[in-house]
Amino acid sequence: MKKILFSTLVLFSLSTASDVQLLNEARNYFQPLPEVFPSDENPLTEEKIKLGKILFYEPRVSIDGATSCSKCHPIELYGADGLRKAQGNNGKINPRNAPTVLNAAGQITQHWRGDRKDVEDQAKRALLGKGSFGAPSYKWVENKLKSIKGYKELFKKAFPDEKDPITVDNFAKAIGAWERTLSTPSRFDKFLNGHVNALTKKEKRGLKKFIEIGCASCHNGSLLGGTMYQKFGIYEPYWKYTKSKKTDEGRYNITKKEEDKYVFKVPPLRNVAMTAPYFHDGSVDSLKDAIWIMAKVELNKDLSPQDIDDIYAFLKSLTGKLSKDIKTVPILPPLN
Ligand code: HEC
Ligand code: HEC
Repeated sequence: MKKILFSTLVLFSLSTASDVQLLNEARNYFQPLPEVFPSDENPLTEEKIKLGKILFYEPRVSIDGATSCSKCHPIELYGADGLRKAQGNNGKINPRNAPTVLNAAGQITQHWRGDRKDVEDQAKRALLGKGSFGAPSYKWVENKLKSIKGYKELFKKAFPDEKDPITVDNFAKAIGAWERTLSTPSRFDKFLNGHVNALTKKEKRGLKKFIEIGCASCHNGSLLGGTMYQKFGIYEPYWKYTKSKKTDEGRYNITKKEEDKYVFKVPPLRNVAMTAPYFHDGSVDSLKDAIWIMAKVELNKDLSPQDIDDIYAFLKSLTGKLSKDIKTVPILPPLN
């Protein structure tokens, strides 16, 4: 108790009144990342997480035998492939940019248009995606998994109560469980936890502007995104600035509601400095350009180079360290 009181006193004595005010404002919009992103439907167990990580790297369930989740979401590159549009089996180009899997489980839904309920739903349906694994059927995937001897034991351990545990639903649950552990806290979390000097002066200026200019009205929560859908291009068509050759009608193609035209899920900004190129079509290479475009089309504001620089510095403070646990690549089970 004494220790806590002492460190609180030290914290406040080292921080200025404006720092404390900024901290309080920030806490109205953002929360620190949780250690894991739990799910009632898919309780996390060590064995399930271990299997999920292996399956994330497994290419033998794809039609060309060379496509795994990790191909498009390389963890060492912060879970995104660096391409404008992801390349799946046999070089097939996907319609959209691959977002990172890090922290992704903490969102209201998955995919740019929110057409996947959660990370489990996402993992299962990726198997049949023509542009991703291209598997002909779930049965085909289950047979593939069963033909790899090493999986028998691993699935049994992860799903001990099931008689026939090698199913695509359990494939999805295991991968989902692993994804739910991919939380990457950064210095911003330290700041939110009361260590106001965890951010530099410039980063704090950027945070203040991020809130005051209005970015935080959409990019909020513990992920700075993933909490809502919004139109991309409220004041002007987005393609005027992104120079996208093809336009994407967003959620409209799923809901068929006129008001959903060009509406996308507000993407999380955790690790955003590491996951170029930007936007649903990967049309913009530079984060600074993306910041300027956002202010222009979402808020009708023309940011000065100084504003952009400050916000850019703040966004870079959202880059977390990848733990050894997250980064280590597993050994795939032998065929026989
Ligand atoms: C061919 C490359 C490719 C493969 C293989 C692939 N993905 Fe993706 N992933 C993408 C693309 C592209 C999107 C965005 C799709 C969209 O929004 O239309 C995406 C979206 C996601 C998302 C949603 C993230 C968010 O912020 O909305 C998650 C989670 C994800 N993938 C996990 C996985 C997992 C798990 C696997 C393996 C079962 C997998 N992906 C396989 C390319 C790929
Ligand atoms: C009205 C809601 C809204 C506001 C305000 C807003 N954004 Fe966004 N932001 C979005 C949406 C929606 C997207 C996804 C656009 C797309 O389809 O690619 C996005 C995308 C982004 C991206 C690209 C992320 C990625 O992974 O590709 C960045 C960076 C970004 N916003 C930063 C900002 C900044 C900085 C501000 C303030 C200047 C801001 N946003 C204001 C809704 C908003």
